[in-house]
Amino acid sequence: MSIAEKISSSPDALQERFRRVRDDSLDLAAGVGPEDQMLQSMPDASPMKWHLAHTSWFFEVFLLEEFLPGYTPFDEGFRYLFNSYYQAVGAQYPRPQRGLISRPNAAEVTAYRHHVDSHVQRLLDSADDTTREKIERLIEIGCNHEQQHQELMLTDLLHGFAQNPLSPAYRPWRQAPLHAVRPLSYAAVEETQVMIGHAGEGFCFDNEYPRHKALLQRHGLADRLVTNAEWLEFMADGGYDTPALWLSDGWAARQAEGWTAPLYWRQDGEGWTSMTLSGRRPIELEAPVVHVSYYEADAFARWADRRLPTEMEWEAAARGVARSGNLRSSGLLRPAAAAGGAGLQQMFGDVWEWTQSAYLPYPGYKAAEGAIGEYNGKFMINQMVLRGGSCVTPDDHIRASYRNFFYPHQRWQFCGLRLAADAA
Ligand code: AVJ
Ligand code: FE
Repeated sequence: MSIAEKISSSPDALQERFRRVRDDSLDLAAGVGPEDQMLQSMPDASPMKWHLAHTSWFFEVFLLEEFLPGYTPFDEGFRYLFNSYYQAVGAQYPRPQRGLISRPNAAEVTAYRHHVDSHVQRLLDSADDTTREKIERLIEIGCNHEQQHQELMLTDLLHGFAQNPLSPAYRPWRQAPLHAVRPLSYAAVEETQVMIGHAGEGFCFDNEYPRHKALLQRHGLADRLVTNAEWLEFMADGGYDTPALWLSDGWAARQAEGWTAPLYWRQDGEGWTSMTLSGRRPIELEAPVVHVSYYEADAFARWADRRLPTEMEWEAAARGVARSGNLRSSGLLRPAAAAGGAGLQQMFGDVWEWTQSAYLPYPGYKAAEGAIGEYNGKFMINQMVLRGGSCVTPDDHIRASYRNFFYPHQRWQFCGLRLAADAA
């Protein structure tokens, strides 16, 4: 472990953080009944109950079984049932069938969580200094892992609720602050060498290392996200019916899936509506477009005679921006119109921004030994990098160097886009 990876936190701070993250998951599940918690509407999505169990499994397998002497698993069968993708841990129950698991029931999963919590507490209380050093990084990873799943809990529930003709609401609708959106402007960046990757002491995932040099070409970066109004222009101009705007794989996906609008959009009478975590609502014109695939984002950029930013361009720009925005704590749980004002808007929160960068290892990257090395490294093929966090990302779970990744056809995450321009 490099010096930079060392987590500098007091014992109490770590304990406090663990407790808060674990509580947050249960808070998110409040009001989501046992039937809701079993929903799995597609293979990419998982039931909320599964997320609640799998995040506990992570601490059980990587922490308690390794470091707490004499630890007895809550249930021997969970090792298989709640293993997501770790080959080194063993076989995995098939992902597409997670929605078939009625037992353990929701109450039993809650009991599993409490069992894991109390044993992590016991481990923290009893660990000597050598053990403590080893477990601190794992607890920190476990907390960040659970925060990733907190975001997935909400995205997956939205997808499940969207299948229901009654369009159920997870939380009540709240009015967003109203802002008139200004025309796009582009922040000019001269050709420059920058450092990319995590710097400093705080937590980051292994895919944010090693920090390395990158050369940015002269370019412009849009000062806000693409809006629904702009997306409607693309639609009205035949964007979804013009193969010349699309990558070949993108056009094939558009044809196979019959895409004519973002996921969840529906034409209801006069106007368009979309499913949100507060039920089905009219499209908000000034709000950023969300639930579009990479292929759609790319086609839009070509239509606009622009392009998507690279992840390096995004990161270099984000480093100068305060790490705040419409993240989960705003409670809106949907993207909101840019407030206006000077400088780059909406860099953090609102929507994950597709970049044109393939999800690849940074120069010199090496995954850790063992099962934990499977966390990020083995997914570095065929996916694209997204930056900036979304309206369902926990506020302390985002930073300039954070690399999210999804397949280019996927739309159910809170994904949108910001444009970039080549220098004329
Ligand atoms: C980084 C969001 C693509 O969804 O599999 C969860 C997060 N990693 N458990 C995913 C993750 C391990 C990951 N994404
Ligand atoms: Fe996971």
